[in-house]
Amino acid sequence: MSDIKDLIEETKKQLLHLQALGVEGVKLTDQLETTTIKPATAKPIATPLRVETRQPVPPSRQPISSTVSGLFGNVAPTSETLRASTETFELIHEEIGDCTRCSLHQQRTTVVHTEGNRKARLMFVGEAPGADEDIQARPFVGRAGQLLTKIIEAIGFKREEVLIGNVNRCRPPGNRPPTPEEASICKPFLLREISVVQPEVIVVLGNTAIQNLLETRVGVSKLRGTFQNYKGIKVMPTFHPAYLLRDPSKKRETWEDLKKVRAYLDSTAK
Ligand code: URA
Ligand code: URA
Repeated sequence: MSDIKDLIEETKKQLLHLQALGVEGVKLTDQLETTTIKPATAKPIATPLRVETRQPVPPSRQPISSTVSGLFGNVAPTSETLRASTETFELIHEEIGDCTRCSLHQQRTTVVHTEGNRKARLMFVGEAPGADEDIQARPFVGRAGQLLTKIIEAIGFKREEVLIGNVNRCRPPGNRPPTPEEASICKPFLLREISVVQPEVIVVLGNTAIQNLLETRVGVSKLRGTFQNYKGIKVMPTFHPAYLLRDPSKKRETWEDLKKVRAYLDSTAK
């Protein structure tokens, strides 16, 4: 009986999150509406975080490169698997330093590093800092970031439980997308962080991040909703929260994509 109660509470919580996200067509009945759910007291549905470091797969057990189409959507699967890294974020960030490797340094205020749980099972990757991020030296803290935080909570994680970063760490003037050259200069640091953390799933937000991380020219509308592959890590492309602010009707598809991520993480939880 208490299981059913828990389930109802969880369902209500999720519906409230969806309403908060502005997903259309989500209705709570009168009875549900009279219940206020305080996130602080609700039972978290996040599963315990994985704490052990995964070992690299020996060459003999690595998957053979497959040309099976469909399995990884429109991006060619690779047989490459991620090498485990014993670097630390501190060392990587020290190496980045007061970076002048590309011209974006000229107008930035701060270098915005990846933040969050360094043992995260789930990572979010965006394009580059905006004005708020540039001032606060933290990724995704402006309006788009606040929506991202709600999206994270909607699938039962706290923001601190996941890892959040960008392909580029300096704000491009006027928030233009970073050029492919600027992205290629900065991206290696993100890839090194990914090797350190080895998340199980990476959600990539919007066209620029998708194109840079997956090295594809295929757009978000085609790729979203299907798991792609980055060196053995599941990658879910979806819309950028800034785009969702401009076109809230796309929140429903984003929710569908994130539900798949949650279901995958539940299926692999130990
Ligand atoms: N948009 C991004 O892509 N990244 C941020 O950190 C903020 C806004
Ligand atoms: N264009 C982008 O860059 N990102 C989106 O999410 C949608 C369109």
